Amino acid sequence: MDPTREAERLLRRFARETNMTVAGRPMEVHGDGPVADALIQMLAAMGARAASSSPADAALTVDFDVATGAITLGGAPLRERGDAAGRIDFARDHMRVSTGLAAELRGAGTVRGLRIGVAMTLEPKTANLALLLADAGAEVAVYAHPDETDPAVAAALRERGVPCDADATLEPRDERAAALAFLRRGFDVLIDDGSHLTRLAHEEGLVDGWLGATEETTSGLTPLRAMQRDGALATPVVAVNDAGTKTGFDNRYGTGQSCVLAIADLLDAADVSVRDQHALVIGYGPVGVGVAAHLRALGARVAVAEIDPLRALLAAHDGYEVGAADALAEGALVVSATGVAATVTAHQIRAARAVAVAGGVPGEIDLEHAVLGDALEPIAEHVEQLADARTIVLDRGGCINVTAAEGNPIEIMDLSFATQLAAVRELVETRPAVGVHALSEAAVDHVAATAARTRGIQLAARSVRSSGAPDHWRSPRYRISTEQETA
Ligand SMILES: NC(=O)c1ccc[n+]([C@@H]2O[C@H](COP(=O)([O-])OP(=O)(O)OC[C@H]3O[C@@H](n4cnc5c(N)ncnc54)[C@H](O)[C@@H]3O)[C@@H](O)[C@H]2O)c1
Repeated sequence: MDPTREAERLLRRFARETNMTVAGRPMEVHGDGPVADALIQMLAAMGARAASSSPADAALTVDFDVATGAITLGGAPLRERGDAAGRIDFARDHMRVSTGLAAELRGAGTVRGLRIGVAMTLEPKTANLALLLADAGAEVAVYAHPDETDPAVAAALRERGVPCDADATLEPRDERAAALAFLRRGFDVLIDDGSHLTRLAHEEGLVDGWLGATEETTSGLTPLRAMQRDGALATPVVAVNDAGTKTGFDNRYGTGQSCVLAIADLLDAADVSVRDQHALVIGYGPVGVGVAAHLRALGARVAVAEIDPLRALLAAHDGYEVGAADALAEGALVVSATGVAATVTAHQIRAARAVAVAGGVPGEIDLEHAVLGDALEPIAEHVEQLADARTIVLDRGGCINVTAAEGNPIEIMDLSFATQLAAVRELVETRPAVGVHALSEAAVDHVAATAARTRGIQLAARSVRSSGAPDHWRSPRYRISTEQETA
């Protein structure tokens, strides 16, 4: 087999079997030759680092033996995650930042007796967020949309005593009633993703008495800010998405890794490789940055289309061709990273080699018009092809890492959920006014410092030489010399 392809398969196997992150992780490759070289290059391009001799690194290091194909984590063979309960426990073991913040909530009694709703994609990491809040003394209930429900995880969560309004078999006509039934449980705080439930609660007048909501995503905050402008927002919202400990990692590294590796896994079924493939990433926000970087790490020739001049300029400085989507979509793997409906036009879909979505709003690719007069033929699960145009369509334009894979890697969601817990704490302790609020710098720093400590990352000592002096702000350039002063 082609050595780069073999290296890529090893890397993808690690990600699939563990749902763990590559970026920031200590990784070692054992063996010589082209497979080892290719693997080292790919891992470095995705942000992996060499292991140090620290005890923290010893537990976190992943070793690849290219000769045998063996992969170990912390010196032990990758363990089978097993059933839903096993996957929840495996995720919990690697969610140490959230666990630390939840222990603080429990110790301070911050959420004791509070009713907290968690409305998110239901998989093992979300299950742990709910369990951590319950353990900290909150009365927790979970909701997930049928398309975003892992039924086995929902069952395992119910077994552990958390009520779960999540039914993957629900008919579309029953979805609204199910979401309303969840909201009618009554909450003090809602942890939301996409602001679907926050918006529905406003439509139905169900926000009275809320301390507030916390919002996980870019696409969820946009309508909430519009509601604030229109005077329609009736509750405080903490913009968890915008915190550096969320966007800088989840949108950038997590979504990049999980979407691109899911795309590579799915394209395998159509016998298409990402390597040497022309790719077009539409949108160069944090998600687009991550998707483009991970596609490039796998050897794709990546171009970017952006409407924002600053972000287009950044893409050019990151070394990508930047141009009009119509021209660049021709024969390319097109990935939308905008979170804006109808980003990929029917014409672009039909011209592309393959299309996928990393953003995740309904209709982000205009599939409805692209299929007119054509047929979508199945190739494999989540993989179809337009019969005439021959475009491969991945999961009908669903948010690919969520609908066709396990979502963002565990340690990335650990940071996002630790940020959520910090936001809940801020809502409860500071009781902000109605409006969309940034999470305070102090809270973000606390999450980052906890994560750095947990991962054995040492901070440099701050320089104290000049900061203590009463005139430390004066420019040293124009300081009067001692001779001038005494003259
Ligand atoms: N799949 C996931 O797990 C996951 C994780 C995090 C965020 N998201 C979602 O991904 C989307 C993007 O997130 P982000 O933080 O990068 O958002 P962002 O808003 O910062 O960036 C989106 C970019 O797309 C550009 N854009 C919009 N329409 C365009 C068009 N027609 N052509 C070219 N460029 C266009 C915008 O100018 C902007 O720079 C959001 O919907 C977000 O909610 C998904």
